[in-house]
Amino acid sequence: MPPGHWLLGHLRERRRDPLRLFTTSQQLLGDVVRYRMGYIYVEQFSHPDQVRQVLVDGKDIYVKGTIWDKLRPLIGNGVVTAGGQEWKRQRRLAQPVFQHSRLEPICLIMTETIAEVLESWHAPNTIALFSQLRKLTLSVVIRALFGTELAPQLPAVSDSFVAALEVTNRRIISPIPYLPWLYRAPTRDNLAFRRAARDLSKVVEEIIRRRQSTGDPASPDLLALIMAAQLAEENQITPRLLRDEIMTLLLAGFETSATTMTWALCLLERHPEAWRCMVTEVDLALGGRTPQFADLVALPYTRAVIEETLRLRPAVWAIPRMATRTDEVQGFRVPRGDIVVLVPYVTHRHPDFWEDPHKFDPTRFLAPGRGEIHRWAYFPFGAGQRKCLGMDFAIMEAQLTLAMIAQRYQLHSPDQLDVRPDPYVTLRPTGEVPMLVFPR
Ligand code: HEM
Repeated sequence: MPPGHWLLGHLRERRRDPLRLFTTSQQLLGDVVRYRMGYIYVEQFSHPDQVRQVLVDGKDIYVKGTIWDKLRPLIGNGVVTAGGQEWKRQRRLAQPVFQHSRLEPICLIMTETIAEVLESWHAPNTIALFSQLRKLTLSVVIRALFGTELAPQLPAVSDSFVAALEVTNRRIISPIPYLPWLYRAPTRDNLAFRRAARDLSKVVEEIIRRRQSTGDPASPDLLALIMAAQLAEENQITPRLLRDEIMTLLLAGFETSATTMTWALCLLERHPEAWRCMVTEVDLALGGRTPQFADLVALPYTRAVIEETLRLRPAVWAIPRMATRTDEVQGFRVPRGDIVVLVPYVTHRHPDFWEDPHKFDPTRFLAPGRGEIHRWAYFPFGAGQRKCLGMDFAIMEAQLTLAMIAQRYQLHSPDQLDVRPDPYVTLRPTGEVPMLVFPR
């Protein structure tokens, strides 16, 4: 790697344009690149076998460690931030909640919420697509978690959550390390965060208390399932941990899904032949009906659109880990304490594993070609023991949303807007995405 700045190393390039840094480094230097970023050394591994070795085989060596500490003020010690035994216990609790068979009742919650948001578009109209899909995915995840119990407070809860998340995102991308005392200073951001987080915690803790005192096993929502799972545990989970788990799922399930659906619609708008294939499939499978859980298998092309979108625009565009001991990855020595980064954005376009890697082509994910995809060349939901818990939830939500939009609307981007990806915490579109929507 060419030497970077004498003091900062490649920190400035990493901050200015990480997609460019990681992409060009792989193109010029190959599948292993070592950078110095300030006082930290970072290894980028891009080969699918290296992805497997770090995320799957090396699960006990490469850990999240303190990497996501800046999330703690918002989501505490939930399944995303926890490590070791604590993580194992929380994963055990949350896993059954997301089993495919448990998703059927959630499907109805999703279609009702999607229909409400789509109604409000009042086509023909120009909508702010990314904001609309953020609103949609946040409402979906809140309703999936709490059922209708939060309906009256939904706008207030959404606002508090978005306000707290914006500050958290700014803290994450800031080069200043995690220093809890710094977040107690009375800055505008800190005060806004504290206010929003306090309001949010109050509502969530109140719901947990109410459910714990009345017990409501009949609720089809995720909170009821998590509470039922924790009753079966030997060591009861404290209300505080339950709160952390809820906040974690709100965080994990909101922006990732909104960015994915925004990118899917931008790509479809640019590829009319793919849009036509999807509309034809939706019309044939549903004949104008609202989709139901059983219909999802009849929408393989719609699913392939989502998978191809996640290949080119993976919401989680980089997955970092910390090496807890010195190791060797495919002959390359990784010293203890280094950060190892796997970059789906890069591996998903690796020319040795993808034909015509920059082309948007959902058919790669349809049989029979699908079987030829290298198992570890595609990992938009991570891999190994910390793989995304909400994968089926997210794919179902995106399939339902795309299908319901295709049933109602035609999309057109004014001025052929070329939306650039912004590698923020998730891979967001740069700025808002104005989209013209017409009734079909
Ligand atoms: C398109 C949408 C989504 C994408 C691309 C995505 C991607 C990911 C990725 C890459 C990871 C692994 C991160 C790592 O290994 O460091 C992850 C973890 C996680 N995701 Fe998702 N996710 C999505 C939606 C969701 C949804 C809807 C939920 C829940 C409602 C969710 C819940 C979680 C949880 C709880 C974890 C942590 C698992 C653990 O550490 O054990 N995700 N996600």
